[in-house]
Amino acid sequence: MRMRNKNRKSTTFRCNAGSRYSFSTIIWSVVGCLVLLHIYALVRHKGGTSGDIQSHYSWHPQFRELEEVEDENFQIPPPRGKRSPRAAKRRPRRSTTIIDEFLDESSQIRHFFFPGQKTAIDPLREGGNNSFYYFPGRIWLDTDGNPIQAHGGGILYDERSRMYYWYGEYKDGPTYHAHKKGPARVDIIGVGCYSSKDLWTWKNEGIVLAAEGTNITHDLHISNVLERPKVIYNEKTGKYVMWMHIDDANYTKASVGVAVSDSPVGPFDYLYSKRPHGFDSRDMTVFKDDDGVAYLVYSSEENSELHIGPLNEEYLDVTDVMSRILVGLHREAPALFKHQGTYYMVTSGCTGWAPNEALAHAAGSILGPWETMGNPCIGGNKIFQHTTFFAQSTFVLPLHGYPGFFIFMADRWNRADLRDSRYVWLPLTVAGAADRPLDYNFGFPLWSRVSIFWHRRWRIPSGWTGMK
Ligand code: DGJ
Repeated sequence: MRMRNKNRKSTTFRCNAGSRYSFSTIIWSVVGCLVLLHIYALVRHKGGTSGDIQSHYSWHPQFRELEEVEDENFQIPPPRGKRSPRAAKRRPRRSTTIIDEFLDESSQIRHFFFPGQKTAIDPLREGGNNSFYYFPGRIWLDTDGNPIQAHGGGILYDERSRMYYWYGEYKDGPTYHAHKKGPARVDIIGVGCYSSKDLWTWKNEGIVLAAEGTNITHDLHISNVLERPKVIYNEKTGKYVMWMHIDDANYTKASVGVAVSDSPVGPFDYLYSKRPHGFDSRDMTVFKDDDGVAYLVYSSEENSELHIGPLNEEYLDVTDVMSRILVGLHREAPALFKHQGTYYMVTSGCTGWAPNEALAHAAGSILGPWETMGNPCIGGNKIFQHTTFFAQSTFVLPLHGYPGFFIFMADRWNRADLRDSRYVWLPLTVAGAADRPLDYNFGFPLWSRVSIFWHRRWRIPSGWTGMK
């Protein structure tokens, strides 16, 4: 026993030329390196020393202004109407929340969420000080002087015409309920398309995919649902391909639809609808990666998770590859974008037309794993942040030439009159450390923070070439 003890070697590793390190020294060195790496990552994110982030600040100091926090103050008006003390005792009045106020079409502060015609933005008449300024929530007119109808939409930059095309739900019809308990709806009219060179002045290109008036069995029959259309261009086939959410009035068909056109301004030929990968599919988007592979992302399993999978070469169908992501999180309204090789996504919760809290997610590989980084909304006030500025994500548009700078596009739904839903466009940046320790990286801030900044009024910095 003693002999064995005497000859027992301490746990050491022999390295070159016989130098000896104890196990604990190695462990402490590794820990030290990890701590240093962590500090480096934090400093790098805080100081923005990554080439890209630094360059966008130094080239365009106006970007810094866009990251300044703008506060909002408003008060919930006192409850209307007198109640007898007996009535109050029988059923105490539930305290009104700001979301109740938002949803109440006769609210005294309605104008705050849905400012009237007088404050409409008319790019053709808006000279001087307001030129090129976005006013989230105000009515936004096209070049014919009509409110833009492109809800739940997305934007395609067409390299060939060097134009931006904004596609969305054309909802200029009456809002009604198909059943007593059914959600508010507008009959399908079609997909509206608007073109622009400067992302501010939009020309109506008409309805590029129209509803079907007579054939009740057609997916696009007016009594059905067509939501969240998105268009991507296929270089190989030279076709513009539109994907959209197709449903019946009760949202039980839960499918995606596909349409195709030779021109960005249509007309689009409707091809078919299906349940992708055999699963129910509601809110959706498509994303085209730098290598030309496009992906479909959709809420599935009764909105409890998202599915993501590549499209085939023609972008006309899904393939057999599909990955389940954000499982159990109950997210919808996905808006996916990419920055410096990392994929980011903003999603909403599932509360019908009512606003809720956005979340930002990130992934090193598009098929996952995806991690949740937290609420990206900054400014306004706590309520603004918890309601995504009273809006719901629909698309994130990269601003070519300004890496790290994006436009966050959202819908402020007016469920009492859906055609009067407003657009909330805000600056989104990818910079700084994510504020939650993440699951797969031992707490290292691997991803940058996605931030969406509230502004009552803002514009893309004037140096942007798209403005010229
Ligand atoms: C929330 C979705 O994001 C919208 O596109 C729409 O489907 C509404 N639900 C309907 O209530």
